[in-house]
Amino acid sequence: MQERQKGLAAVLQQAPVVPVLVIENVADAVPLAKALVEGGLPVLEITLRTRAAPDCIRAIKAEVKNAIVGSGTVLDAASLKLSAELGCAFAVSPGATPALLAAAQSIATPLLPASRSPSETMMLLEQGYALQKFFPAEQSGGAPYLAALISPLPQVRFCPTGGITADNAASYLKLTNVITVGGSWMAPKTMIAGQDWAGITRLAASASHLEQAA
Ligand code: 3PG
Repeated sequence: MQERQKGLAAVLQQAPVVPVLVIENVADAVPLAKALVEGGLPVLEITLRTRAAPDCIRAIKAEVKNAIVGSGTVLDAASLKLSAELGCAFAVSPGATPALLAAAQSIATPLLPASRSPSETMMLLEQGYALQKFFPAEQSGGAPYLAALISPLPQVRFCPTGGITADNAASYLKLTNVITVGGSWMAPKTMIAGQDWAGITRLAASASHLEQAA
């Protein structure tokens, strides 16, 4: 567990922002990933919300050299196992269930489970998760909520996700318990549909210049 957490920290420290991607068409996967990597955001979360997601992960891993690919929307043991089979560098869940956490014990892919209350955070910490997603971030108290956890729960570092934008990302990243933030603002559906890869690179470049405190 300790080793997996260390490895996950090293991945999440690579960039201030992890793009959270919903990709419908496999053909978009590689140009989208290239656009984000070129903009300075190499750590990518490909959500398992679309039928195309596994093939998107395969394609990006095969063709985008500097991308670090993880899976997202990992809701159960089967999705975590699939993430491992696909060779994902990490797997992100919007929550945590006993079945998912039990499966994670015997799967090498590091899991980033989510919490949104001190009790949930403490329960995950008891199981060795010092890195947690905070979801849905803006809707659950945002940066002020996370700031309030620094004193009582300094062991935990978070990846807040949900409602984070170019305008509010810095308010999270300045916190010492935020390792990186997740979000989709640099890869909006309309730009993916319009194959505006240059536009996505511009948004990624601006996100990649945000400062990470933790
Ligand atoms: C999601 O659930 O899609 C992620 O949390 C991203 O949320 P966002 O679109 O609000 O950035």
